[in-house]
Amino acid sequence: MSMRVREAQRKDWEGICQVEQEAFSQPWTKDAVIRELMNIDLTMYYVLEDEQGVIWGYAGLWHVLDEGQITNIALRKACRDRGYGELLLRLLMEAAWKRGCSVIFLEVRFSNLPALHLYRKLGYTVVSVRKQYYTQPTEDAYVMSCEQKKYHWADK
Ligand SMILES: CC(C)(COP(=O)(O)OP(=O)(O)OC[C@H]1O[C@@H](n2cnc3c(N)ncnc32)[C@H](O)[C@@H]1OP(=O)(O)O)[C@@H](O)C(=O)NCCC(=O)NCCS
Repeated sequence: MSMRVREAQRKDWEGICQVEQEAFSQPWTKDAVIRELMNIDLTMYYVLEDEQGVIWGYAGLWHVLDEGQITNIALRKACRDRGYGELLLRLLMEAAWKRGCSVIFLEVRFSNLPALHLYRKLGYTVVSVRKQYYTQPTEDAYVMSCEQKKYHWADK
């Protein structure tokens, strides 16, 4: 299957909602997804799509001053652990550096080992802990950040 990553458009809301439902216990609603996609002064969203236009994953962030805040990154189960999460996150981060971010933050569940592995690989380190940040199930979050100058280009 040949995949590509491109900037998200409003019409992608349905594919993004399907990914959300497969990936998270409390998925974003249709309205929340559309609001994010339409808020282009603040947000950047990218989707992973196959030749048929089916959306397999997406990632996005908010850009405020020189800071980025990753809102979500998720893939459908069938295409995980094949390097697409890394590709999506790298393209999002590189677009964020170009747009003027110099540091990017994110939160991640303590138990989310695949995500933690990916973030560390790209240069993120833990800056703090948010107690009971997540619900269903309740869990603490690591807050992680990656400065542009610490972004790992190796293995590309
Ligand atoms: C987190 C997520 C986006 C990662 O994407 P992915 O395509 O599965 O990850 P990749 O294949 O790009 O892997 C990147 C690195 O993580 C590692 N990795 C992937 N799955 C792993 C797993 N289950 N356990 C440990 N490491 C894992 C890979 O081996 C790779 O590292 P390497 O190159 O050193 O081998 C994806 O698993 C996902 O959608 N999860 C559900 C939603 C989610 O939790 N989002 C994050 C919220 S903070």
